[in-house]
Amino acid sequence: MTNQTTGLGASPERPIAKVAPATLPQNSEISERDFGRMARIVNRAVGIELEQSKRVMIQARLRQRLAQLNIGSFDDYLSFVSGPSGGEELAIMVAALTTGTTRFFREKHHFDHMTLEALPPLVSRARKGGRVRIWSAGCSRGHEAYSVGLTVLSQMSDANEFDVRILATDINVNNLRQAHAGEFRDDEFSPVVAESLENWFERDSAQDVAESWIAGKELRELMTFLPLNLVGEWPMTGKFDIIFCRNVLMYFSVDFQQLTVERLADALAPSGYLYLGHSEHLREQIAGLQTVRNCQSTYRCKDRWR
Ligand SMILES: C[S@@+](CC[C@H](N)C(=O)[O-])C[C@H]1O[C@@H](n2cnc3c(N)ncnc32)[C@H](O)[C@@H]1O
Repeated sequence: MTNQTTGLGASPERPIAKVAPATLPQNSEISERDFGRMARIVNRAVGIELEQSKRVMIQARLRQRLAQLNIGSFDDYLSFVSGPSGGEELAIMVAALTTGTTRFFREKHHFDHMTLEALPPLVSRARKGGRVRIWSAGCSRGHEAYSVGLTVLSQMSDANEFDVRILATDINVNNLRQAHAGEFRDDEFSPVVAESLENWFERDSAQDVAESWIAGKELRELMTFLPLNLVGEWPMTGKFDIIFCRNVLMYFSVDFQQLTVERLADALAPSGYLYLGHSEHLREQIAGLQTVRNCQSTYRCKDRWR
């Protein structure tokens, strides 16, 4: 099944193969030329800029994959990836090149700002029958999206009975599959207050690990998970009241950072908020976005923009 959204040929239903131990290929050094070629393929497909400083790490990660496929050189591997049947392998390669580091309530000031400034008008709108949409773009294994869900439920415990939805997207279908499963270990929850955990998560009895939790019905009903390449087409047509796109753009080339922020600005509803990662503050003014002064890497859609 080709995934229409990512264009990368993988989907949450179709697991990415686990890397099995295998004999390393003979000629598995990545040359300057191959690295340049890989950088161009990856930049075109997903906007990511491969840094020379990561060359050894990338080589180590992909060696295992070459061995598994029984491919003897990076040159042959890149021909396969960019060939007619390479779509799914491109997704696997990108997964090997990106990190999914994340945690609950990361950069907590955004969740505080959301609670105090962004959510109150949205809660009253939802209670009057209005539509509220929040997007976690580059959600990794779901910690960010569930933190958003917990923040919404802390202000509106019956949110799932109204037209309130959280969209969580990522290019990495392995990450997305874990996000969709909504299962987390005890030790992943440290900043989540105990009450919130007890209210919206359940003990996961199906797991061997006793200390694990699974998202409860009210939390799950708020969420939709979708594979999506931020550099590709976005199938969503409606605007978002809040967008989290944090610690994703920092992997992109400057051109794709700029382009993606412009598209995110365009996807915001009037007065909507955009939260970027702490190292992703905008160097240039983006039409339609104004900086929120009291919260780091936070931007608001100008009303007059629409
Ligand atoms: C470091 S994690 C950030 C997770 C979360 N936003 C946070 O701040 O905790 C970066 C995520 O961006 C995703 N990503 C990288 N390039 C992407 C692209 N072109 N489209 C969508 N997601 C992408 C990766 O798969 C990874 O899960």
